[in-house]
Amino acid sequence: MSADVRKALFPLAGHGTRFLPMTKASPKEMLPLVDKPVVQYVVEEAVSSGINEIVMITGRGKRAIEDHFDISYELEDVLRQKGKLALLEEIRKISSLAEIVYMRQKESKGLGHAVLCGRLLIGDEPFAVALGDEVVDGPAPALLQLVEVFRKVKGPVIGVQKVPKTDVSSYGIVAGNVIGEGLIRIDSLVEKPSPAEAPSNLAIIGRYILTPDIFDILEVQDPGVGGEIQLTDALRILASRRPVYACETQGNRYDTGDKLGFLKATVQFGLKSPDMGKLFRHYLENIFQKGDAMEAGKE
Ligand code: G1P
Repeated sequence: MSADVRKALFPLAGHGTRFLPMTKASPKEMLPLVDKPVVQYVVEEAVSSGINEIVMITGRGKRAIEDHFDISYELEDVLRQKGKLALLEEIRKISSLAEIVYMRQKESKGLGHAVLCGRLLIGDEPFAVALGDEVVDGPAPALLQLVEVFRKVKGPVIGVQKVPKTDVSSYGIVAGNVIGEGLIRIDSLVEKPSPAEAPSNLAIIGRYILTPDIFDILEVQDPGVGGEIQLTDALRILASRRPVYACETQGNRYDTGDKLGFLKATVQFGLKSPDMGKLFRHYLENIFQKGDAMEAGKE
C-alpha cells in the first residue's frame, strides 16, 4: 500500500435538492463563486495538497463538470483569434489541472455508496474524499491539513469543525479524546443526530483521508439515516477496529449546495476578488448605508 495520499475521490452525483429549481438541469457543483465553478476550487485545493489524481463519481445530468475540465477547441480558437491570450492561458490550464477519471453512480444510494463506487479506481491505497460543493477558505488547503495529520498518525483522518448545537442534525457528528492540538481520537460517530443525541458539536465538513479497508465495510453496510448508505456509519465500524482521527480544520467553510451558504460564499469571494473586490465592497457599503438611511427615516 502506498504510504502517501495521491488520489482523491469527489462524490458529485447528488441531486442538489436543497438548491432547486437551479439544480433541475445544472449540477450544483458548477455554481460560480465569482467566475469559477465551485468544483474547480475543490480540484485546486486537492492539487495544492499534493493530490493530482482525481476520481469523480458523477451521475446523470453532470456532464457539464466533464466538459469544464476538458479541452474546448472552439472556445480556445475564438480566444486566440480575438487575441485574448491571458484568458486563453487561463482556460487551457483548467484542462491540465489534474488527471481526472469519471465514473457514474447509477443510483442515489448515499455518500457511502458513492465512495464504494470508486473502489476499483482507488485500489489499495489511502485516498482523500472531498465533497464538491463545499469550499474551505483557510490559511492552508483543507486537504493538506488532513494529509499532514495522516502522515503522522498513519490512519484515517476526518476534517471537522465546531457548529452551533442547533445545527448538529445537518451533519455527521464525532466525539472522542483530544490527543493533540485540534486532533481527536474518535470514539463515537453519529450521522445527523438530534441535538439531544449528539455526542458533541464537532461536525464532519466533507473532507476525509480514508484507508482502503473502508471499502470492505461499505460493501456490507446497511442503509442508515434517510435510507442511504452512510459513510459515517461505515466509519463508526472502522473506528471500532482501528484508530480513526478527527482534525479540527482551519478556515471558513461554505456549503454552497445550500442557498444561504452559497450567498455567503459569493459575498466573501466577491470581496476577496483581486479585480472586483474594491468595487463590490463599495457597492455593498452603499446598499447598507441607504438601508440604514431608510430605516432611520421610518422612525
Ligand atoms: C454529508 C455527510 C455528513 C457531513 C456532511 C458535510 O452529508 O454524510 O456526515 O457532515 O456531508 O456537509 P450531506 O450534507 O451530504 O447530507
